[in-house]
Parts: sequence; C-alpha cells; structure tokens
Amino acid sequence: MKFKSRRPQPRALVAFFLILSIFSLPASSSSSSSSSIDDVKSSTIIHQFKEAPEFYNSPECASLTDNEEDSSDRYICSEEAVHVAMTLDTTYIRGSMAAILSVLQHSSCPQNTFFHFVCSSSASLLRAAISHSFPYLNFQLYTFDDSQVSGLISSSIRSALDCPLNYARSYLANLLPICVRRVVYLDSDLILVDDIAKLAATPLGENKVLAAPEYCNANFTSYFTPTFWSNPSLSLTFADRRPCYFNTGVMVIDLERWREGDYTTKIEEWMELQKRMRIYDLGSLPPFLLVFAGNIASVDHRWNQHGLGGDNFRGLCRDLHPGPVSLLHWSGKGKPWVRLDANRPCPLDALWAPYDLLNTPFSLDS
Ligand SMILES: *[C@@H]1O[C@H](CO)[C@@H](O)[C@H](O)[C@H]1NC(C)=O
Repeated sequence: MKFKSRRPQPRALVAFFLILSIFSLPASSSSSSSSSIDDVKSSTIIHQFKEAPEFYNSPECASLTDNEEDSSDRYICSEEAVHVAMTLDTTYIRGSMAAILSVLQHSSCPQNTFFHFVCSSSASLLRAAISHSFPYLNFQLYTFDDSQVSGLISSSIRSALDCPLNYARSYLANLLPICVRRVVYLDSDLILVDDIAKLAATPLGENKVLAAPEYCNANFTSYFTPTFWSNPSLSLTFADRRPCYFNTGVMVIDLERWREGDYTTKIEEWMELQKRMRIYDLGSLPPFLLVFAGNIASVDHRWNQHGLGGDNFRGLCRDLHPGPVSLLHWSGKGKPWVRLDANRPCPLDALWAPYDLLNTPFSLDS
C-alpha cells in the first residue's frame, strides 16, 4: 500500500509552526501545568497528526494466536508476533509516529507486529494520539516511573540524553509482560526501509542476550574517561573480551535471558559508580557498553545507518555509510523534523519526510 504525503508551502508551514509553538510545552512540564493547558495540549497533539492507512498481512503470514484468554490484551503474548518496544513522549511523538509508519509500511506481516510503548507522563494523551493515527495497531502502553532512575542519572554532555525516559530501554524486561521473550528496541528518530521481521529474527546463539550492529573501528577508549582507564580494577572490565562500540538505538533483546541474568541491576550498578566517580560522558549508552560490549550478537550494519543527526554539539549534515540500507537513524543532535520545519534540511532528511504524519491545516488529505 502506498502512502502519499503532501508537502505544504514553506511560508504557510512557518506560520503554522509559529501558532503551534505556543502550545508545545516540554514533556517534563506536563505534570506541573494546569489542566486547561493540558486540554489544549491534548487536542493539539491528537489532531496534529493524520490517520495512517491500514496495512494488511500478505497471504503467507502466520495467523496470530494468543495463550492469554483476556481479549483486551489481544496478541500481547503471541509467539508469532514481532514485538517492538519504543518510548513515547510529547516532544518526540512526531518522530515516533514516522518510525511506526515506516515499520508497518515495510513489513510483509504488519498485522503481526505488536508495539510496546513506554512513557513517563501524559499516558492517556499519548494513547489517544497513537489510537487516532493508527486505529488498527496492536499496542500496549506502559508507564515508566521516572523516580526509578532519576536518582541514578548524572549529567552528560548533551542535556537531551539526561531525560529519565532515555533509560527506559534498561527496564524493558521488567516493564513488558513475562510472556514476551524477544523484543526489538527502536529509538524515535529512525526510519525502517526493510522488513522488521528480518531484524527480529537475528540469531542470538546459545547465550547472547543482545544483538546490535557493532563498530569495531570506532575508538572504544574514547567512550570512557581517563579516570576509568587509569583505575587498575576498572580497566580490567574488558580484559576477557574484545569490546566494540554499538549504538543502543537499535537492539534485539532476549528478555528471558536478560531477566535470568538480571542485567537491569548490572546496568544500575555502573550508573551508581558513575555518580561517585565520572567514568564516562554520555548518557544511557556507556552502561550498556560496560555490561555487553564484546558479548553481543552481531547485526549487519544496514540495520543502523546511525549518526544522520550529526554530532552531539553542532548537528552537521552527515552522509550515509557505504553499503546497503535497511534502517536510517538520525542519532546525534539534529532531528529531521526540526531541520525541515526550519527550512534548513540536510539532503538525507528528504528520506524521512514521506513518513511524517503531521497534519497541517493547509493540507487537503487528512
Ligand atoms: C582513542 O581515544 C583516546 C581517548 O580519547 C585517545 O587518547 C587515543 O589517542 C585515541 N586512539 C586513536 C587510535 O585514535
């Protein structure tokens, strides 16, 4: 099924966003804002987005079955489903919607995809927005308690990385139902252009907990501070493995093995150490590297063409890495929707634009 998006006139778009920006409050302020502002905000967010078309399974897809009797949780435990986990917040909802649409559009069995959304506030509003744009989506929303992790966060080099929800990926094994054994975690600033079932089917071997594309040419040393490397016991962390950098924005996780090994606690232990002595500068990534680097199953690089947002400081335009592409990831400071709105897009942002569900008063299709 094809989905067309109509690009409005630039000047009209600017005018529209001037109006919109009056209502766009940061997610973290929602708990303290008055209910009338919440009402305005909720109707703004829900009606901001178009309804995506319905996507259908191809004939060879398995039919979903569920062990659970409770029909309100249809397919949540299905073994045939591809389970996808993402976080949702009011700031990145536009990116999340585009990511969801891209997953469905390139999946040969879109009706066999089950989304697990984690949010820390505005749950009913986000649920309404997703239901409005994806009326046929199999999904469940989970509330992540910020206080579970806020005491463990130390400030990083980019403040957006310090948001508690950014750490929710370490808690998926606790948040999702026990019956979900494998999940694909995806960031909100990416687009799939290939069937997610292929990524979800990555072999994890006898004992690997996690799979992700590895980058062994990246300078691994630079992800940790001299304090870390000069400490005799800490520097032994990687002594018996060959650690490589991987990006935590795209991961296949065996939740059963994660629970067995209690990896959430292992990650928290490194975060506690970070509070006492600064062993790294980035946010949620380094604890994952400390626990898993050198011990993960490899995924082809086509599944995370990362860095399209530019670096963590300036957000310069980046080109694709050589080789085939199944997933485009705007990691880094610059986000395609921000650059498109500002009329200063990078060339590759044009690949994101067709998945944008943002509705404008000036577009005729909605
Ligand atoms: C890797 O990074 C470290 C720390 O930032 C630096 O001292 C070292 O020279 C780098 N190595 C290479 C090969 O670039």
